[in-house]
Amino acid sequence: MGSLDERNPSLWVESFGPDRDRPALEGDLKADVAVVGGGITGLITAAMLTEAGARVVIVEAGRLASGVTGYTTAKVTALHGAIYSKLEKGAGAERARAYGEANLAGLAAIGDLVSRYGLDCEWESASAYTYTSEASYRDQIEAEAAAAQRAGLAAAVTDDTELPFEVVSAVRLDDQAQFHPRRFCLGLAAKLEERGVKIFELSRVIDVDDGSPARVKCATATVEADWVVLATHIPFLDRGLFFAKAFPSRSYALVWKPQSADAARRNGMYISVEAPTRSIRSTAGGHLIIGGQGHKVGAEPNTPACYEALVSWADENFGPGEATHQWSAQDYAAVDGLPFVGRQLPGSHVLVATGFAKWGMTNGAASASILSDLILERENPWADAFSSTRMGPAITSSEFYKENFDAVGRHLIGDRLKTLRPPAANSLAPGEGGICELDGDKVAAFRDDDGTIHAVSPVCRHVGCLVAFNPAERTWDCPCHGSRYTVDGKVIQGPAVHDLEPKAT
Ligand SMILES: Cc1cc2nc3c(=O)[nH]c(=O)nc-3n(C[C@H](O)[C@H](O)[C@H](O)COP(=O)(O)OP(=O)(O)OC[C@H]3O[C@@H](n4cnc5c(N)ncnc54)[C@H](O)[C@@H]3O)c2cc1C
Ligand code: FES
Repeated sequence: MGSLDERNPSLWVESFGPDRDRPALEGDLKADVAVVGGGITGLITAAMLTEAGARVVIVEAGRLASGVTGYTTAKVTALHGAIYSKLEKGAGAERARAYGEANLAGLAAIGDLVSRYGLDCEWESASAYTYTSEASYRDQIEAEAAAAQRAGLAAAVTDDTELPFEVVSAVRLDDQAQFHPRRFCLGLAAKLEERGVKIFELSRVIDVDDGSPARVKCATATVEADWVVLATHIPFLDRGLFFAKAFPSRSYALVWKPQSADAARRNGMYISVEAPTRSIRSTAGGHLIIGGQGHKVGAEPNTPACYEALVSWADENFGPGEATHQWSAQDYAAVDGLPFVGRQLPGSHVLVATGFAKWGMTNGAASASILSDLILERENPWADAFSSTRMGPAITSSEFYKENFDAVGRHLIGDRLKTLRPPAANSLAPGEGGICELDGDKVAAFRDDDGTIHAVSPVCRHVGCLVAFNPAERTWDCPCHGSRYTVDGKVIQGPAVHDLEPKAT
């Protein structure tokens, strides 16, 4: 238990760990800082605070590095698709520059941890590329390279790549990196434990009392701390309304093993600027990772088709082969493009970091630096740009209203109207799931391969939207704010913290 998708483990989850089981939190503890969430953001925050002398406790709902960090493609770069043109237009040149500097510093911070702690995590230098294969995107590539340069990146335009298909133009940024994210995180966790950090797993935090001290509450245990860092991907506390300011999108990845082993190894890390997005990198072990095919969470009924689209694209572009691993995961993007990092509300002792838009390696490390500086009362050059309590486009843009209208209007109300007369649960074939009628009740029903029906309430425990069945992962995904549950209703991913109500079958 603890992985996002045990049915489709990522290359990282399958190839490394967990190193060992850690205890669940029991009783009542005290610490200077309680970090909730043991992904890359939580672990690097814990490392920075521990090095500054703070007593840190980490409380993780599942297993360390089994959340999105275990299901990433793990490119460690400040070149993020075409983010700099978008940020310049929306948030302005100054904040675009802050984003660039913060992410370059994030890359350096991870590299520094790797070398100082001697972490064996397949860390290797690589160039990052944002490319296009369509002539109509050439101008966009050139505009992105110029915006990235203004943001402080040594970006250049090139059409020279090692990709086996035509690239019209690309932004290139050298001296970036890639790694094995679980080897990094679990290695770092072991070093932190040697330095006295207490780490608890299988301990879901269900509430936090803000204040000085603040109190972190699990079902039967608490941690009292001066500061609480919610490094939980999306904050599960609704107080700062982050679920209404950052929106989840799901993406797919696979390892493609071409018949020709030479076709697998690439030195660069690539992402297309045009949709559907294609992400390409390889590993030191010769695995070729292809990603993309993103969509809003809960909005794609045929999720297996997303894997199929990646398989046929890999086959067409890298030659016939076999998909040895496939997985999917989701990440949140803020409307104005910058993560939310800082206090959940002005004056609060509960801190958050979210909205990494599928670039959370460097953004996670940058957030760790902003949050630890806040706690240690040090100036941080990027704190204002990433401010979690900022106003402006983050909450006033038309996209903000559109996204929230979509969630509240289309899903909270519309999905109930669409399911007024649901089909009978016993009409489901093995492997199928959906909102069904069972004994006069509307339920989220799934029939497993043995023919057994699993039924739970379809009402998400966050703010009550109806969940949608994800046939590829066999999970219930909430289209409103991205909570996910197993077919038996156990929370996999927040903002929900409580399980779906079970229904008798
Ligand atoms: C398909 C895909 C590919 C990506 N590729 C890249 C890439 O190449 N480069 C890049 O920079 N970024 C990439 N990203 C983004 C990056 O993986 C994420 O932004 C990053 O891993 C987020 O890290 P995190 O620590 O904030 O969250 P997580 O890794 O999700 O960690 C949060 C942890 O908090 C725990 N938690 C949650 N709620 C609670 C609770 N109530 N109590 C206790 N614990 C709790 C979870 O179990 C989890 O372990 C990708 C994302 C996706 C979806
Ligand atoms: S995640 Fe918000 S209602 Fe489901």
